Amino acid sequence: MRSNQEKTAAQPAQAAGCCCKGSTEDELMSRLDEIIDEYATIDGALVPVLQIAQNLFGYLPKTVLKHISKRLNIPYSQVSGVVSFYSFFSTTPQGKNVVRVCLGTACYVRGGKEVLSAMQKALGINVGETTEDRVFSLEVGRCFGACGLAPVVMINDNVHQRVKPTKIRELLSPYREAKEEGKEDKGC
Ligand code: FES
Repeated sequence: MRSNQEKTAAQPAQAAGCCCKGSTEDELMSRLDEIIDEYATIDGALVPVLQIAQNLFGYLPKTVLKHISKRLNIPYSQVSGVVSFYSFFSTTPQGKNVVRVCLGTACYVRGGKEVLSAMQKALGINVGETTEDRVFSLEVGRCFGACGLAPVVMINDNVHQRVKPTKIRELLSPYREAKEEGKEDKGC
């Protein structure tokens, strides 16, 4: 199940995780240049190039956006506007698990704000941030279509219903354990 986030959502071509772990920044930039060369003459190249860049780097740092802007000859303001528009683009490093707390009306009135506070406390980060160990990123959503079971939290594609602020650590525990046991995806 996908979330209805604050920004317009669409299906990315690939997940946000970096698939070139171990590559140097220069190697990633060279790879990006090869991709840009392939897409340069195609109309609507910006979004796919950004998707591939995010997959290479794990997120979209400003230097990469500027590079894409220059190479595709598209104003930087337009590039950053597209990045802001689509929810699957991130300009900060994303955690292994993306936690989204719903603050839509139904969830808000049933304690969504308290759930968010408890989540911030448990993770030690604010909305839009990633934990230092890159295990969790925290975001908010505006309705995941499960209002009858509010308050709702999504962790990756898993929907957690009727979440209680007192049970947040329990909720996060399997995701932490997956990391500790080395169960993360290996990427491509
Ligand atoms: S308002 Fe939270 S799921 Fe609809």
